Amino acid sequence: MTFDLFDSVAAEVRQWQEPLAPGALVLRGFVADAAPILAAVHAVVAQAPLRHMVTPGGHRMSVTTTSCGALGWVSDDAGYRYAAIDPATGRAWPVMPGALVALAADAAESAGYSGFIPDACLINRYEVGARMSLHQDRNERDFRAPIVSVSLGIPAIFQIGGMRRNERALRVPLAHGDVVVWGGPSRMRFHGVLPVKPGSHPLSGPQRINLTFRKAG
Ligand code: SIN
Ligand code: FE2
Repeated sequence: MTFDLFDSVAAEVRQWQEPLAPGALVLRGFVADAAPILAAVHAVVAQAPLRHMVTPGGHRMSVTTTSCGALGWVSDDAGYRYAAIDPATGRAWPVMPGALVALAADAAESAGYSGFIPDACLINRYEVGARMSLHQDRNERDFRAPIVSVSLGIPAIFQIGGMRRNERALRVPLAHGDVVVWGGPSRMRFHGVLPVKPGSHPLSGPQRINLTFRKAG
């Protein structure tokens, strides 16, 4: 009895919400069981390999990337966009595993965005030193849906700024299991990730895996 009570209290204190800005927050420790999520990610990667995308400016991104869902995020000399076909395989992107859809919908709901059904999940793998410079997510057709961003593996510092690139950005340390959700008045905030420091996580090794769920089409 005492043990049960302690257990459920412990489970509650490991998850909490941290507001960042109106419409934007961190769900700390939201991913209670990451193993099936990472297994789903591995199944996707087996069908649609991680690869370095090249920006329209010709820079090779430091993260490696793939996608699942009806639409995948791609970048090349022609620009950033969503595409139904993976240019690396010539096939449709893998179906988004149910465990990922459910995680994204639950996180959105907890953050106050009900009815979120993602059609695109971008998988970013950060090896030590990889980073993501400040950008807005603006290739989606409809900005009413939020962005749901899941952090797994080694920690990183997320940056979330204003509506213009040169506005000062908050630095938010993200750990394994944290989920950031931004939408509504914060939907177009610039955001990015500082170079990932060396580390190792029992489930991912020396990597950070980020899953970014969007309603893109
Ligand atoms: C992104 O904005 O696509 C990635 C954000 C992150 O890795 O946390
Ligand atoms: Fe982004």
